[in-house]
Amino acid sequence: MPRGRALASALAARGVPPLAGLEWHDSLVSTSDRVKALARDGAPAWTAVLADEQTGGRGREGRRWTSPPGGLYLSVLLRPAFVAVGLLPLAAGVAAAEAAGEFGVRAELKWPNDVLAGGRKLAGVLAEAASGPRGVEWVSLGIGVNVRLSAAALPAELRGSVAALEEGGRSPTVASVAATVLAQLGLWYDAVSSDPASVVAAWRARALPWWGEPIEIRIGGETLRARLRALDADGALVIETPDGRARRVVSGEVLGVRRAG
Ligand code: BTN
Repeated sequence: MPRGRALASALAARGVPPLAGLEWHDSLVSTSDRVKALARDGAPAWTAVLADEQTGGRGREGRRWTSPPGGLYLSVLLRPAFVAVGLLPLAAGVAAAEAAGEFGVRAELKWPNDVLAGGRKLAGVLAEAASGPRGVEWVSLGIGVNVRLSAAALPAELRGSVAALEEGGRSPTVASVAATVLAQLGLWYDAVSSDPASVVAAWRARALPWWGEPIEIRIGGETLRARLRALDADGALVIETPDGRARRVVSGEVLGVRRAG
């Protein structure tokens, strides 16, 4: 069955409403670039773009997302009318982690939305948005999941630090992973609108157990030592700096736990 049809029927089998639009390309520079172009052309919410490979896949903070065949490269156009838009990237991380669980892989979340399995990166989320006079006009949620990995297709420096869904032993197809991620994303999208606190709670329940631990965090160009204290209602991270003050972080990256020394 063609992969687009396989995805549509897997969604229907789960009782998920059909996507407003679906493109599945053999190769694209970036599915998120394509979704942004569609957004500007007025495409409807829940238009999804997938590619078998990306030649210029983008990660957070200007990083590259290596995208050889065998991975899920999915971007979804959303046009949220609710206030808690800032929770969408966390919701996408929860959706990806839940999807991993369905394929036998226990995933954990690292703020803001890294999806890890056994400490290795399994999936990532890139959220990009445009606002107009009436607020947020659209959000592109780009989700990359390592489904099957060929070490030869990865740069040497990534080989020890990435995980793949095939490790769960269920040999999933990319279309089945896409359907599972989209189904969970639909549920959590509704939750962002109707019960944002449940999204924060779900994210926390899957977070790495680093609360209270000494960590290093990069905020802009600055790397700080701090302790992780909480995730607030808006999805911001609350850290305690060495002088004992609480600081709220809306954008940045937790680099890791700082071991003794
Ligand atoms: C990260 O963890 O840095 C985020 C990675 C996001 C990768 C996905 S793959 C589909 C979409 N298209 C892109 O170019 N990036 C996102």
